[in-house]
Amino acid sequence: MQYAVIAGTGSFLPPRSVSNDELAADLAARGVETSDEWIVTRTGIRQRHLAERGVRTSELATRAAFAALENAGAKAEEVDLIILATSTPDFVFPSTACLVQANIGAANAAAFDVQAVCSGFVYALSTADAFIRAGRARCALVIGAEVFSSILDWSDRGTCVLFGDGAGAVVLRAAEQPGVLAAHLQADGSQSKILCAAGNVAYGEVFGDPFLRMDGQAVFKQAVTLLDRSARIVCEQAGISLADIDWMVPHQANVRILTMLARKLGVPLERVVVTLDKHANTSAASVPLALDTARRDGRIQPGQHVLLQGVGGGFTWGSVLVRM
Ligand code: ACO
Repeated sequence: MQYAVIAGTGSFLPPRSVSNDELAADLAARGVETSDEWIVTRTGIRQRHLAERGVRTSELATRAAFAALENAGAKAEEVDLIILATSTPDFVFPSTACLVQANIGAANAAAFDVQAVCSGFVYALSTADAFIRAGRARCALVIGAEVFSSILDWSDRGTCVLFGDGAGAVVLRAAEQPGVLAAHLQADGSQSKILCAAGNVAYGEVFGDPFLRMDGQAVFKQAVTLLDRSARIVCEQAGISLADIDWMVPHQANVRILTMLARKLGVPLERVVVTLDKHANTSAASVPLALDTARRDGRIQPGQHVLLQGVGGGFTWGSVLVRM
């Protein structure tokens, strides 16, 4: 039996950071009213990184992939699987994973995309873990990357202030002892309308509404309830208690969701990694970006138990419990 361990992490943010005040001034020029005070008190977000128009998800993902390979001490030729989570792919096809595979020169890798919106990274990580456990891969690159700014309606102040762009990546290697201890994924398509971008291009025309739409209060309630349940499921699977979790790395949507979740689980807030103040919500990139940030600043240490959690459109949610 072989298991999967996290051998390295990496991330990349577009260089342009935009504070709430800068965003508010920009939006005011378009007749949309918001403020730093409203955004901080309702969400905890203080700034976000935004890609220049025309920058593609594959470009951010490639930079994060190179950083993760370097951190793991892995060569691109060793990678035999690339799974990339995104809801803002460069194209309908080829997949963004294939574009990254070519960019980094991973000549021996299979590559495909996963689409589970803000849960995408935990879906991709759990899938890569299953490939490694089944003996079908030995070195997997798992990436979450988004240019979410490209699907925002900048006249809708209820959504456009919440998101940012970025990418994060993890190298998973086969090992004799488990790093990934347990995983739980779930979906409820009957809730698809509370968070969606329900447009597409067909016959050369745009059908439906291509912008992100959200019922914020419904998403809030679902996120807290479902992540609480999912955390308990993976702890039970792994045979550890919630008190044994050293760090929670939840999807970075809203500080009030994270606070309420931590309270429900009885995990002290000091053990929750929060990056949304600087990155905002980067959808599939948020969990690997937060994980990489907390590894590089020394908070997350080898041997610690880390709970990674995603929740988002679909509706989808899930958890991956790892020993670093
Ligand atoms: N600036 C100023 N005022 C605003 C803004 C803004 N950016 N956005 C909305 N408002 C106004 C509304 O127009 C409304 O005004 P009104 O009372 O005069 O009609 C008022 O603020 C309250 O609006 P609500 O939508 O009821 O605000 P709420 O308190 O629910 O906060 C929020 C909205 C932050 C989105 C909240 O619902 C929330 O945290 N939801 C969780 C969902 C989330 O974080 N989603 C992220 C993406 S999903 C995911 O990643 C899983």
